[in-house]
Amino acid sequence: VSLALVLTAFMFLYFYSKSSKSFNYNFPPGPPALPVIGNLNILDLHRPYKTLSKLSETYGNVFTFHMGPKKYVVLTGYEAVKEALVTQADDFSERGQTHTTEIFSKGGNGIVFGKGESWKVMRRFTLSTLRDFGMGKKTIEDRIIEESQRLVEVFQSHKGKPFDPQIIISSAVSNIICSIVFGDRFDYGDAQFLNLQRIVNESVKLGASPKTQLYNMFPFLDFFLSDHKKLRRNGKMFQGYFRNTYKDCKDSVDSNDLRSFIDTFISRQREEEARNSNKYFHEDNMAVTSANLFAAGTETTSTTLRWGLLLMMKYPHIQDKVQEEIESVIGRERPPQAEDRKSMPYMDAVLHEIQRVGNVVPMNLLHETRVDTTFRGYRIPKGTPVIPLLSSVLSDKTQWETPHQFNPNHFLDAQGKFVKRDAFMPFSAGRRVCLGETLAKMELFLFFTMLLQKFHFRPPQEVSPEQLDLTPTPGVTSSPQPFQLCTLSH
Ligand code: HEM
Repeated sequence: VSLALVLTAFMFLYFYSKSSKSFNYNFPPGPPALPVIGNLNILDLHRPYKTLSKLSETYGNVFTFHMGPKKYVVLTGYEAVKEALVTQADDFSERGQTHTTEIFSKGGNGIVFGKGESWKVMRRFTLSTLRDFGMGKKTIEDRIIEESQRLVEVFQSHKGKPFDPQIIISSAVSNIICSIVFGDRFDYGDAQFLNLQRIVNESVKLGASPKTQLYNMFPFLDFFLSDHKKLRRNGKMFQGYFRNTYKDCKDSVDSNDLRSFIDTFISRQREEEARNSNKYFHEDNMAVTSANLFAAGTETTSTTLRWGLLLMMKYPHIQDKVQEEIESVIGRERPPQAEDRKSMPYMDAVLHEIQRVGNVVPMNLLHETRVDTTFRGYRIPKGTPVIPLLSSVLSDKTQWETPHQFNPNHFLDAQGKFVKRDAFMPFSAGRRVCLGETLAKMELFLFFTMLLQKFHFRPPQEVSPEQLDLTPTPGVTSSPQPFQLCTLSH
């Protein structure tokens, strides 16, 4: 009988190893997981990147973390993140999905949460359209300069009294991507425009709220958790706006005079349909891609600018040095131009350091293995969610002299010349690297330089620079707490 039992056990193991590929996989180690909840008991749901950074001290730069019942591979530090996203770029280039992003992207449409061939086609098309609009009659640079002049007027209208700059900065930044997506900017007071921004702002918070994270781990708790329902309503309303614009534009598109991203999309859709080859140029991809551009193009850049102003108030001696450089390179009268950046190493270093310390997308967006892959000796199956933790790269002790201090010298050599640093990765890296990186850098430089050319910033009278709080608020993007500023005109 015992022989029969041993034989049965061997046969079972043999067939199990044949039928289940997972038998061959070997995930990196990680904290012991509890049944059902996994590692939830040790996760800070408000700032999960803090928990993950801390765990890397025990488990190294590649470890497994259980979000509820699901295994995630976490990569921390510059070397591990670069190795996965750049050296093994193809293997780690798929987008990881959660229940909420699945709903938002309608099953992988658009770019940010796009998947497979559809993502590739949308990414390529969008990059080339952004390039075309940058080179058009009115370049993106001209538009940013015009918009920053309007922003200055609004700042001036507060006459040195304290105000919260959040909505106005986000409107100005948003107008740049709007002028590409819709071919036009909005008035700052436009109700529809403000509503779109409210949706983005709320969704960025709800998208990473503890309730949404719990729903993504345990979707059967649907009934008890409300945030994802609000997200779904927001998503529908938001995309509805782009769908309506698409319908309105359809009849007036002239392929010899394309006014916007949406026009260009419709024109391409017609070409593909005429060739009977249309697979991806449909309304869902248009709505999700346009919504992606609006949201990604507004929130991250405007949050970075707010970090910038807050840091300038906190470190007035650095603000003074930035202003001295503006004074000597540009002067007070003419508006800054993108070309000026080359002659402004200190400004360049300060902007890089604002992005490093601002750490605006700390968790990165979720990646996923596109194929079965081997990474540092671990065999990871296709379809595994991967977190290449950007906050850990931007504060990697092996890469930055003073990782937790605002220190523009990180990007300057002994002669005061700007130096590039490989571990500067706020836009991530590899196949999924931020599609708006070039645009964002131009916006940051022009908006920031224009504001500091016109104003000196300080906190309201009753607040000292030391009292300014740099603790970020939780969300998909990590933003400063609401703050008020006062302007002193030069
Ligand atoms: C993706 C950061 C501005 C459009 C991303 C990702 C990060 C990021 C970290 C995820 C990359 C990855 O998955 O590995 C930032 C920061 C910005 C910024 C820090 C500003 C300071 C913009 C702007 C646009 C934009 C202005 C508008 C054109 C996108 C898109 C993706 C993306 C479409 C998805 C790319 C893909 O999945 O292929 N960004 N971004 N971003 N960003 Fe940005």
